[in-house]
Amino acid sequence: MSVDIFEKCMEFHTVDDLKNAGVYPYFRRVESQQGPETIVDGSKKVVVCSNNYLGLASHPKVIEASAEAAKKYGTSGTGSRFLNGTSDLHEKVERKFAKLVGKEAAILFTTGHHSNLGALQALVGKGEVYITDKLDHASIIDGCRLSFGGEMARFRHNDMADLERVLKKNEGKAMLIVVDGIFSMEGDIANLPEITALAKKYNAGLYVDEAHSLGVIGENGSGTGSYFNMQKDVDVVMATASKSLASIGGFIASGAKIIDYIKHIARPMIFTASLPPACVGAIDAALDLMAAEPERREKLTSTAEKMKKEFKLLGYDTNHSQSPIIPLTVGSDMVAFKMWKMLFDEGVFASPVVTPAVPEGHAIIRTSYMATHTDDHLSFILDKFSKVGKALGVI
Ligand SMILES: Cc1ncc(COP(=O)(O)O)c(C=O)c1O
Repeated sequence: MSVDIFEKCMEFHTVDDLKNAGVYPYFRRVESQQGPETIVDGSKKVVVCSNNYLGLASHPKVIEASAEAAKKYGTSGTGSRFLNGTSDLHEKVERKFAKLVGKEAAILFTTGHHSNLGALQALVGKGEVYITDKLDHASIIDGCRLSFGGEMARFRHNDMADLERVLKKNEGKAMLIVVDGIFSMEGDIANLPEITALAKKYNAGLYVDEAHSLGVIGENGSGTGSYFNMQKDVDVVMATASKSLASIGGFIASGAKIIDYIKHIARPMIFTASLPPACVGAIDAALDLMAAEPERREKLTSTAEKMKKEFKLLGYDTNHSQSPIIPLTVGSDMVAFKMWKMLFDEGVFASPVVTPAVPEGHAIIRTSYMATHTDDHLSFILDKFSKVGKALGVI
């Protein structure tokens, strides 16, 4: 007789173990708008796990634009972008995004994850190679896996000698280097000056995922390419609207012919419904606010600098963070879960990151900041991290 397909579910005990230990951190219930202070599971928490970098997710103008779009276009696009799901509002934000990142054209997918799936699936096929950083986001890996026969070759995180080794090994094949601009867990920045030089040397294309860099670094918040003044050397820019842009959705920007190709080939573009109007309206307003209020980005940068300095003074290892993502190494997975719970009980909502996302014994509490955190919030966070870190022997 065959093995019961559901047996693995019955034998999956990790969640029960964490719940029984009282430290289960996932799927917490948010009961208010998300800002530096948010109601979670019935009580107010100071949030250090949000990607709402510019604090726009509860901005009145963004909410109003979202509501207006729903009123004008209804609540759903009711079909694929390919057929009936493209509105003039989708096209408007695509033009705005392409202009922001200095590319000829852009296309808006329904999520950031979908945009990596779709663009990467379309761009690399049989006999061609994705060259990826080992710490690239999961949606990049998923996009490579969706390829019609493309291979994947990985290099050690931000290690340029290893990138060159991998490029040399695959010389002669068509290659696409794919990197995060700011890495989502580590908070460090891709070494674009050297990556672009190597891309030129080996005639490889370059694709940069700006999910965590849009709104955060570069001219007008346009990301890593602009931060290094090398946007013209980035062939394909990907970004998501779920972080600084206070919505959901994913952009791919590039030359017009490349965008045309992706939008007619990518299955995650064709076989899913378009981003709902309310979400597109929010993106439209958030892009305007991002341009009109550079002080948000400046505040975010100074907050990140201050927190890095203060965490180091407390004795935390902030790894290689160069951004508002500050990961704190705490030790074993169980220490991370315990620390998460103690922080939560003290009124701080953070994220534990455990194996297999990090090597054994190097679990982190990932913290990230918003332009709308006040000095009082930051002092509160530091005070709680000091208390809990000492109680657990992490610092
Ligand atoms: C680097 C990176 N790329 C892509 C994505 C996917 O974006 P979204 O959550 O908007 O689908 C994320 C989301 O966490 C990310 O961190």
